[in-house]
Amino acid sequence: MNSIPQLILNDGNAIPAIGFGTWPLDDQQAEAAVRQALASGYRLIDTASRYGNEKGVGLGLAASDVPRKDIVLTTKLRGSDQGYDQTLRGFDASVKRLGLDYVDLYLIHWPLPARGLFPDSWKAMVRLRDEGRIRSIGVSNFQPAHIRQLIDETGVTPAVNQIELHPDFAQSELRDFHKLHGIVTEAWSPLGRGEALGNAVVAGIAEKHRRMPAQVILRWEVQLGIVPIPKSANPARIAANRDVFDFTLDADDMAALAGLDRGHRLGGDPDIYEEF
Ligand code: A2P
Repeated sequence: MNSIPQLILNDGNAIPAIGFGTWPLDDQQAEAAVRQALASGYRLIDTASRYGNEKGVGLGLAASDVPRKDIVLTTKLRGSDQGYDQTLRGFDASVKRLGLDYVDLYLIHWPLPARGLFPDSWKAMVRLRDEGRIRSIGVSNFQPAHIRQLIDETGVTPAVNQIELHPDFAQSELRDFHKLHGIVTEAWSPLGRGEALGNAVVAGIAEKHRRMPAQVILRWEVQLGIVPIPKSANPARIAANRDVFDFTLDADDMAALAGLDRGHRLGGDPDIYEEF
């Protein structure tokens, strides 16, 4: 089993180049899947208060013999916990459910710009980071205007922005903005919820490299410096998805995959989407 390379965040902390996603697994499924993922070599595990599975994720971590210090555990602040005091409380509730005393990466799940509370949440997260309860702070589903507002109001740049990204929706403009600010791009639904797997271009490249379509897509993301966090509940697919560090896509493959972008968003539009 090849070990997973790491990227260095703008705060100096390291993050694995691929992670394991847990949406929409329930507690019981998440516990089993996280155990499986850790046994398969994943060290970046992603959950959220909103997923309702932090307890199961925490049990999966506790059941594994991987040392806590080797794991990068991510969770996210839900919409109903936005605001300064609410964020402090929401974070406490998450760590309690997880059974942990610190979180490696804490993200604002959605900006909810109409509520105007995300800068206050960010200030609370900076405090939690300074207190040592969070190692790195970041955002999810943020557009450039939202990130600029955080930087202008606090001087603190997110370490990560976790966004919807897959071959159909390659987000190249947002990635350029991230590069400019030293923000690592994480990809949720990196396989396009499985939709991208049946694409003929992907299938052709997979055949050429004798790999699975999912591995080709995840490798494309890794080669672009994006951190994909594929979800699977299937042990064989969990293992296969992290096994993308012993082959390389050539320039033609990369160009063909880039050509699949149709700007096709599957999830909510961050400028208007609200979930609590
Ligand atoms: P399953 O849990 O049965 O493996 P995304 O991470 O883009 O949201 O995609 C997740 C979906 O893709 C899930 O339905 C998952 O189903 C499926 N999936 C994950 N890995 C693979 C794979 N290697 N091959 C085929 N389907 C996969």
